[in-house]
Amino acid sequence: MQSQSVDAVEVCPLDAPLGAEIRGVDLSKPLDAAAQAAIVQAWHDNLGLLIRNQTLTDTQLIAFSKIFGELEMAPPNKSGSHWIEGYPELACISNITKDGQAIGSLGNGEAIWHTDMSFMEEPPTASLLYSLEVPSSGGGTHLLNMYKAYETLPDDLKKRIEGRVAVHDATYTSAGEVRKKFADFVGTTDPEKAPGARHPLVRVHPATGRKALYLGRRSGASNVLGEADTALWDALWAHCTEGDLAWGHDWAVGDLLIWDNRCLMHYRESFDNGERRMMHRTQTKGEAPIAA
Ligand code: OGA
Ligand code: MN
Repeated sequence: MQSQSVDAVEVCPLDAPLGAEIRGVDLSKPLDAAAQAAIVQAWHDNLGLLIRNQTLTDTQLIAFSKIFGELEMAPPNKSGSHWIEGYPELACISNITKDGQAIGSLGNGEAIWHTDMSFMEEPPTASLLYSLEVPSSGGGTHLLNMYKAYETLPDDLKKRIEGRVAVHDATYTSAGEVRKKFADFVGTTDPEKAPGARHPLVRVHPATGRKALYLGRRSGASNVLGEADTALWDALWAHCTEGDLAWGHDWAVGDLLIWDNRCLMHYRESFDNGERRMMHRTQTKGEAPIAA
């Protein structure tokens, strides 16, 4: 099969604080090395990529995802098995139930602003979300530029977080559910005692050299370690979510959205549970955040 060359890759930056649409490619077919490199470069330049109108099998989604790095195995479902039989790299994000069992995670509720799995020592870098079924309204996914969040921080806040570390509480998921393993920690208010990784509040992206604010998720005891009250943490969140730093995507079937957990947060709108939404997701292996 002839590979698609770099000439086919059209990078169209969005009129938004981040993001580009990639046009001209069919991801079910191979891309040559230069075409792959152009897509990865567009991802570094634009933080988030949208590629519409794709028809991908699970195998093709996995093959394409590997241009962003080695793949991570998906977190197992509640019964400890793979979400999609035979594809341990795939997570299913869905509200659909089959025989009383959820076929995916996150349900239909809001998924608050977060970066994926920041409670891990080496959180995944790229997340690729491919839509197979979408509701008629709601369920949009928003991305927020954390380079800009850092760059636009008032100087006093920048100074206050220099060299500081945050606790990435593992107790809750971004859908507000308690992770079974950490049920004992529900209600923990002392960040020193919260389970989960400790990461620098400002991290350097290894490919771009740019500094990004790294907050993870606002839940449980997530906090700036060593800070007695939550005022600083609250101020950082307010700065991110009240500024004009985000872009939101309304899904159509066949869309692929790719984000970089090192320099973006994301958020998912709720939607009517009478409708079906189903996404397959891959993630690339993580790396420990590099302190600025
Ligand atoms: C995720 C996630 C958002 C969505 O897969 O990590 O947050 O739009 N998904 O389903
Ligand atoms: Mn997520």
